[in-house]
Amino acid sequence: MAFIMFVLFLLASASLAKAQETRSNITLRSSLSPTSNYSSWLSPSGLYAFGFYPQGQGYAVGIFLAGILPRTVIWTVNRDHPPVSADATVLFTNDGRLILRSSQGQETSITSATGSTYSASMLDSGNFVLYDPKGSVLWQSFDYPTDTLLPTQRLLAGQEIISSISATNHSTGLFRLKMQHDGNLVQYPVNTPDTAPYAYYATSTGGWGDNFSLNFDVDGHLFLLNTTGYVITHVTSGRFPTNSANYIFRIDFDGLMRLYSYDLNQKGNWSVKWSSTDDKCNPKGLCGLNAFCVKNDQEANCLCLPGFDFVEPGNWAAGCERNFTVETCKTGDAGASYNFQAVDYTEWEDDSYSVVSSTDKDGCKQACSEDCNCEAALYNGGICRKQRLPLRYGRILTTDATSALIKVGIAKPINANQNKEEVTRMDILLLSLSLLAFGFVMMAISLVIICKNNMWTYQRICNKIEVSLAKDQAPRLFTYAALELVTDSFKEQIGRGSFGTVYKGVIGEKMVAVKRLDKLLAEGEREFQTEVEVIGRTHHRNLVRLLGYCMEGTNRLLVYEYMSNGSLASILFKSPERRPFWEERMEIARDIARGVLYLHEECETQIIHCDIKPQNILMDENRAKISDFGLAKLLNADQTRTFTGIRGTRGYVAPEWHRNQPVTVKADVYSFGIMLLEIICCRRNMELDFPEREAILEEWVCECFWNGEIGKLTGDEKVDEDELKAAIKVALWCISDDPMLRPSMKRVLLMLEGSAEIPMPPIPSSSICTV
Ligand SMILES: *[C@@H]1O[C@H](CO)[C@@H](O)[C@H](O)[C@H]1NC(C)=O
Ligand SMILES: *[C@@H]1O[C@H](CO)[C@@H](O)[C@H](O)[C@H]1NC(C)=O
Ligand SMILES: *[C@@H]1O[C@H](CO)[C@@H](O)[C@H](O)[C@H]1NC(C)=O
Ligand SMILES: *[C@@H]1O[C@H](CO)[C@@H](O)[C@H](O)[C@H]1NC(C)=O
Ligand SMILES: *[C@@H]1O[C@H](CO)[C@@H](O)[C@H](O)[C@H]1NC(C)=O
Ligand SMILES: *[C@@H]1O[C@H](CO)[C@@H](O)[C@H](O)[C@H]1NC(C)=O
Ligand SMILES: *[C@@H]1O[C@H](CO)[C@@H](O)[C@H](O)[C@H]1NC(C)=O
Repeated sequence: MAFIMFVLFLLASASLAKAQETRSNITLRSSLSPTSNYSSWLSPSGLYAFGFYPQGQGYAVGIFLAGILPRTVIWTVNRDHPPVSADATVLFTNDGRLILRSSQGQETSITSATGSTYSASMLDSGNFVLYDPKGSVLWQSFDYPTDTLLPTQRLLAGQEIISSISATNHSTGLFRLKMQHDGNLVQYPVNTPDTAPYAYYATSTGGWGDNFSLNFDVDGHLFLLNTTGYVITHVTSGRFPTNSANYIFRIDFDGLMRLYSYDLNQKGNWSVKWSSTDDKCNPKGLCGLNAFCVKNDQEANCLCLPGFDFVEPGNWAAGCERNFTVETCKTGDAGASYNFQAVDYTEWEDDSYSVVSSTDKDGCKQACSEDCNCEAALYNGGICRKQRLPLRYGRILTTDATSALIKVGIAKPINANQNKEEVTRMDILLLSLSLLAFGFVMMAISLVIICKNNMWTYQRICNKIEVSLAKDQAPRLFTYAALELVTDSFKEQIGRGSFGTVYKGVIGEKMVAVKRLDKLLAEGEREFQTEVEVIGRTHHRNLVRLLGYCMEGTNRLLVYEYMSNGSLASILFKSPERRPFWEERMEIARDIARGVLYLHEECETQIIHCDIKPQNILMDENRAKISDFGLAKLLNADQTRTFTGIRGTRGYVAPEWHRNQPVTVKADVYSFGIMLLEIICCRRNMELDFPEREAILEEWVCECFWNGEIGKLTGDEKVDEDELKAAIKVALWCISDDPMLRPSMKRVLLMLEGSAEIPMPPIPSSSICTV
């Protein structure tokens, strides 16, 4: 730790005392503003304080240790909100609300207290408490921990603490510690389900009883109690000899949990009394995707897989990406342009889609190279597990002998296409480039001058300079004005969906699609931002990329990559001449299945699309991509349930929606099944102009299939009968009435790829067709 100075409040420095008076009883109409750093309400002894502390270029509000320097932040209000500027204030209003008011007058509440608050207090335990007029507790910060626990604070069943981004940035980081209802205290990466494959630390007390709590004594003892107060297990031994020490327990940004102590009687340092492990590579997800952790003198270090480079050098969490272009997957010539590089003695998350047993390392490479979907294989003891990228949770382990075999391109690297002619033209090129660059510099300089001198007239030009896309993967926050500019005041509408209207825009040289959401939950910015972050973390070639977003007042906009070939609906149903051939259609179906599979099983937070239909599948030059995923959560459930068609047909909506049963990923499988039928037959699922028995596609397919007349379904088009039958069987499985019968998306993809058996679909109920 850095240079540390010891200050007890009793010997407090004059500057602290001058900045604010000591208060333990905070009354209505009190306020704080960051006129000095650490402007705050102190606890009676001066050890803890509630108030402003410097964060980034501005200030954050929270609780920090004021009596021990440098000040340690214990708790942060709205940790994922951007820092506020120096003219913000914390107000304890006349009507008992504790709010943070920005310089623009925007108010954010600091607590979730309901009822009439009368006073507040910063206690010496580090707890910040709001009271009602009778003195009962209405709200306390101890109930809403961020990354730190203090002595006497408890973590109750169902609660978790989440690490910060870094020692100085207290936004939500990468790791969490959860006190589970089943009695287990477990550490996971953020955005993972509470299941064993993701855990990297546990007290292993799961199933010992219900609703244990994590307790923290003033002597540094951490332990689990059951609901009747019996000690179940000790996390730290506690009873550390000094009784004048201060303890804090924190899940640190590197994923380790540590108990720190600071001896008040001996001027000194914070020291680590206990940590969850010594292995800094242990926390899963420290290294991001396609990277693995190596210990270097006890410190963790992340390396990329062979053939990969860091997405953002210096930011491990952003992971690694290929440094060569991948050829599209075509069985047959797949092996030609790759070789294998091994990373030995590693451990990875196993997300294999196919396992080859009783083989050796060369056999494993062979199996992977012959399968164009195989991007890497994990080989251990005769077992070869084929994987798709990304690989994650990798680390070097001296005890485990898993070899990661990575397919690495030996074809041309990304920019090695120069030929001789181009080389001889190099000089001319360089010359023109430098002239061009000079021109740009001059233009930029003049624009800056113009902007400075002519604020109003040239504001539009000035704005334009600022509108650019984020270089990293994360979606960028745009102002409404910027998007107005990008879309030329929302001039060209290119689509209208259930979620809003889509406009064409241009950012730099890149075309974008700007979607203005109309039906939104009344919920605030935070929910929106959370959802946008979830969507922004998805990266898959079959998903439309989210490039940015805007939230200003009631405006909510999303900026997506532009898809040049319109929607699947338009190429499937509108013009017979543009209709893709059978093979192309099946590739589209597999592409969509890959995208949905990623949403369901492979991205950090599971996403149920809830609205899969050809209108939401967009096409670029090469492939189909899914759009509008992740939006269902931003809308009222009721609004997403309004797709019921006429005559009681179910459209794309799974039957459980109408039965008010819980909706799972299997609802998407249902919608996919209906859409697959449309892709097979090149017609809409409902065509009222058709003869009555053909009007509803699923009924018509059902009848044809069970009567052995599937040839009728594709009309004039010549389609291999076995392939057609296989595709129809997959679709019929997907639209099973019972969600449990529907296959998982992984299985659907394997069946469509021909790598899994397709059993006979279940006999349909008589309401669909008579067999
Ligand atoms: C805080 O101060 C107010 C007014 O001075 C008083 O009525 C109240 O009892 C005090 N509350 C506490 C918890 O000391
Ligand atoms: C707050 O601290 C920063 C650096 O730590 C310093 O630059 C700034 O002047 C301080 N602000 C006030 C109001 O003291
Ligand atoms: C903290 O980290 C988050 C995520 O990387 C970033 O968006 C935010 O700007 C950072 N805050 C500060 C004050 O640096
Ligand atoms: C545990 O807590 C949950 C939620 O608070 C409650 O529903 C459940 O009944 C509790 N279990 C026991 C055994 O007390
Ligand atoms: C808590 O543990 C004690 C001792 O093992 C046991 O007697 C008691 O029944 C437990 N309480 C609950 C609610 O399970
Ligand atoms: C505080 O820690 C530093 C670095 O770890 C060490 O050099 C120094 O001796 C420590 N001071 C005391 C008083 O323990
Ligand atoms: C890609 O990375 C590997 C190291 O993993 C390196 O040997 C190779 O030269 C790189 N290729 C390109 C085109 O940068």
